[in-house]
Amino acid sequence: MNTKRIRSGLLSNTCWVGFLLAASILLGCGCAAGAAEARSAPYTGLAATPPMGWNSWNTFGKEINEEVVKGVADKFVELGLKDLGYQYIVIDDHWHGGRDAQGKLIPNPKKFPDGIKALAGYIHSKGLKFGIYSCAGDKTCGGEVGSFGHEEDDAATFASWDVDYLKYDYCHAPDDLQEAIQRYTKMGNALKATGRPMVFSICEWGPRSPWLWGRKGGGHLWRISFDVGDMWDSPHNAYSCIGILAAIDASSNLEKHAAPGGWNDPDMLVVGLGNKGYIKGGGCNSAEYETQVSMWCILAAPLMIGCDIRNMNAETRRILTNPEAIAVDQDPLGKQGNRVARTASTDVWRKPMANGHLAIALLNRGDQETTITANWKDLGVKANESLGIRDLWLHKELGSFRGSFSAKVAPHATLLLRAVRPK
Ligand code: GLA
Repeated sequence: MNTKRIRSGLLSNTCWVGFLLAASILLGCGCAAGAAEARSAPYTGLAATPPMGWNSWNTFGKEINEEVVKGVADKFVELGLKDLGYQYIVIDDHWHGGRDAQGKLIPNPKKFPDGIKALAGYIHSKGLKFGIYSCAGDKTCGGEVGSFGHEEDDAATFASWDVDYLKYDYCHAPDDLQEAIQRYTKMGNALKATGRPMVFSICEWGPRSPWLWGRKGGGHLWRISFDVGDMWDSPHNAYSCIGILAAIDASSNLEKHAAPGGWNDPDMLVVGLGNKGYIKGGGCNSAEYETQVSMWCILAAPLMIGCDIRNMNAETRRILTNPEAIAVDQDPLGKQGNRVARTASTDVWRKPMANGHLAIALLNRGDQETTITANWKDLGVKANESLGIRDLWLHKELGSFRGSFSAKVAPHATLLLRAVRPK
């Protein structure tokens, strides 16, 4: 909990007023150019679609070790997650054993007796990719050794361990915007200088608007919100986590900053935690977990599973392995969806996809079943145009509709639809 106290201190200093100020300064100086540049040519580099994988933090926190990670890799193959596109297996905080006499990072020998390179080799032998965690402060959020002042050496160490992905946190580091940009850019450049392609995941939680500078700093994804807890809706709980709804709201209006090679990241999936993981919050029901997947797909968000997939139940597996939802997330057009209509308890979201298809989400934020209508004018479709609508959770064509589409949606549920113009 010490971790969270340290971080809360940072967040309260930073606060949303500071964040809004920073955003307006950056907007004024035109630093959003990166996203525009990236759209002018087809992108063929890393993270051409939002990264998909698993991260140890939500379930294991400090209790991570090589047996767990290998077990997860085995299940990725056995349960078909790999075939669905889940690829990166990322060890979060607490893999560390400090630095050796030469200053080189070493893993905790009790947790990772065979070393990190061997573990990466195991993961690669399964056709998967391997990720690790460090921090732009001199300590990580959990108080382990951080990379500040060691960027080049640590990047070289990660490359020598055959790392494919680095999540880079921002604890024990100054609030200052320019300092944050410098620190992330330094590590981004250091990773590039190794010559090994490594996805760079920026994790400063949003207060310094990383969507405006993350891409330039070498990032392929950047957290836009605080940690998502295992809960439906709360601005912050005792662990300084936010709920699923708050993360969705934090993502709205950021769509112009997402494009192949750089994605807004509303944090990992809490699906299947059942309040038993390291990250708590009271737990969610199936409709709420399904909403998280539906909305993360509409948001073209990275899909990083957080539950213990070695022991997941059939319902969790169903929610995490819906190929039609995943296809929305991974759509090659690489557009993040946006909210096009809203009432007190309902949202309609729209995501443009390849071949002129649209993904539509009808989100019931409220506690009562309610009818939600997607109007063609809100979707940017001509009123007289007919769209074929498919329900991506029921895997069923619902028919052809003109002008609008309405459906009853259960409390906290999301209807995820694909709309197709007839040929
Ligand atoms: C921060 C991050 C989390 C996790 C922890 C590890 O809180 O936001 O995702 O990486 O640090 O200590």
